[in-house]
Amino acid sequence: MRISISQAIDRLNNGQVIALPTETVYGLAASIRHPQAIRKIYTLKSRPSANPLIVHVSSIQEVLEISTDIPTSFYALVDAFWPGPLTMILKIDESLISSDARAGLSTAGFRMPSHPISLEIIKETGALVMPSANLSGKPSSTTAEHVEADFGLDFPVVDGGSCQKGLESTILYFDNNKWIVVRRGALSVETIAEVLGYTPEVREKANSSTPLSPGQGFRHYAPEAKLILSDEIDSNVDCLIGFKNRSYPKGKTIYTLGNDDDPQTVAENLYSVLRFLDEKKVQIAWVDMNFPKGGIWDSIRERLTRAAERASSENEQSF
Ligand code: TXA
Ligand code: MG
Repeated sequence: MRISISQAIDRLNNGQVIALPTETVYGLAASIRHPQAIRKIYTLKSRPSANPLIVHVSSIQEVLEISTDIPTSFYALVDAFWPGPLTMILKIDESLISSDARAGLSTAGFRMPSHPISLEIIKETGALVMPSANLSGKPSSTTAEHVEADFGLDFPVVDGGSCQKGLESTILYFDNNKWIVVRRGALSVETIAEVLGYTPEVREKANSSTPLSPGQGFRHYAPEAKLILSDEIDSNVDCLIGFKNRSYPKGKTIYTLGNDDDPQTVAENLYSVLRFLDEKKVQIAWVDMNFPKGGIWDSIRERLTRAAERASSENEQSF
């Protein structure tokens, strides 16, 4: 169900959960003042309770009120990238954010979205938690139709069209006087390095039972279809995800992401194409992974790699 900006503000202030567009992906929003709405987000998404939510703000003041230890480089990153697709994890005063939202951690991730609709709404409601608006483990939503496909036609969503970035925010974690990338995303590591003056370490995959970001331990972005990632499609295949400006004589049905010199368009189309596979009940799709390295391409590669992962016994119950 499509709702207006003013209806969205009323509902959020009344403790309801709704979906909003951001420049990265659509989010399921609840006010940080309404713990029961925050709990509802976990139920709606079937999200593991150990996976915390990002706090979305419209002013730096809101971050300063909640966090306790702010490194000076935070301000340089804010100057360069906020509002925009960068989330920063900071230590917080635990009494100010409900334990459910931060999964019991003593930190919270903060982001100021640049989408005019979400920014305008947050200005009126105050800080909102917003995970991506998809069922846990599935591809994120980049249109209002995607949100309705996951949560039903009656679910309230503000329609902001198709998300421009198409990939979630990049997440930075401050540890030992340095920022670490714990999730690649819409903002490239190279661009962040220019502001920091060093290249942050990328620690994406959980290699311990207590990863810096709990989300690393769960399955993400996966369609029902089995994805087979390949640098070379050299045998006949039924279904193939590839690039518009390439020809694939071995592929029967080809879904294109965009041109192989335009990572932004590829990112924008990625989740739509993954969702389309499920709509078409595709069982197996090959993916042309022969694309450049660096920048946003690395985030696209990471998403496709995660999307292709099959259920493993240790995280199966968390889907
Ligand atoms: O672009 C985005 O970031 C979107 C839009 C809606 O803003 N949101 C989003 O939220 O991607 P979600 O919940 O799908 O992913 C948030 C990730 C999770 O992997 C979670 O574990 C991590 O952020 N995270 C949140 N709070 C954290 C914290 N305090 N410490 C470490 N990781 C945290
Ligand atoms: Mg998500």
